[in-house]
Amino acid sequence: MQPLLDNLLVKHREHYVHGTVANYIPALGEVSPQLAGVAIAPLNGDVVGAGDWQTPFSIQSISKVFALVMAMQRIGDTLWQRVGMEPSGQAFNSIIQLEWEQGIPRNPVINAGALLVADVLVSHFSASQSAFSHFLRKLAQDEHVFADQRVLSSELEHGSRNAALAYLMKSFGNIHADVPAVLNHYFSQCAMTMTCQQLARSLLFLANRGVDPVTGEQICSAQDAHRVNAILSTSGMYDQSGEFAFSVGLPAKSGVGGGIVAIVPQQGVVCTWSPPLNAQGNSVVGMRLIADIAQALGLSIY
Ligand code: DON
Repeated sequence: MQPLLDNLLVKHREHYVHGTVANYIPALGEVSPQLAGVAIAPLNGDVVGAGDWQTPFSIQSISKVFALVMAMQRIGDTLWQRVGMEPSGQAFNSIIQLEWEQGIPRNPVINAGALLVADVLVSHFSASQSAFSHFLRKLAQDEHVFADQRVLSSELEHGSRNAALAYLMKSFGNIHADVPAVLNHYFSQCAMTMTCQQLARSLLFLANRGVDPVTGEQICSAQDAHRVNAILSTSGMYDQSGEFAFSVGLPAKSGVGGGIVAIVPQQGVVCTWSPPLNAQGNSVVGMRLIADIAQALGLSIY
């Protein structure tokens, strides 16, 4: 496994020049475009990695996966009366569909849907931000998981689009808590920093029917693990989810910090990180790495 990861990183990392580091959140724009890492966590938890796989980065939208699991656990099927399960066919931060569809986001991993999920967490946990970071630390089996305060304040300052999405949903009665509290939670979960190693380890339960394969703890039901993987297969790579299914064939989630996680049911988790993004907001080098890893190891679920 190690030689494969080393070789693929050498093969693909120079393609960072074909992407652009996200700068609509100014603090993210300061990260070096040349950093790149990859990690594979098999079900036994012995993570293997190459490059900058132990460097923390901003998890951004990958946080939507953890938040969704927490919300599903808390309110069960009523969640799906407030958010859909279809691909949006729009950019991750699009607002255009939301009014047509009466403030019900298409799915929980576009920004509108993640804000809805954040509302559930704010409304159902007495301290949602610390519950969220506690959940990440438990899953990573590592206390060293923190929010980057600079990224957090940068997003708070430049969060008008997310505020607009949240207020529009509020006007339809689909956001229950105060919008500033929802935005605060959402930005703080996006600002969490983790390494490829920690992320791959954390998501093993989704590859193992909801059970953490190392600790044996049931993190979510097998049905919820199935449902999260289904949402990630159809919508996790935003408006490139179809192409990702076509070329890779794994449930996956990207973030504008340049991370991508891909779940390999019954086998493990792959995580890549390289900051420069393509036009859809997915890491250029990460897409290439995961496609080759899936090809080399025959990982497609289809
Ligand atoms: O809300 C935002 O725009 C960011 N905090 C997260 C967006 C994101 O990561 C989309 N991913 N590709």
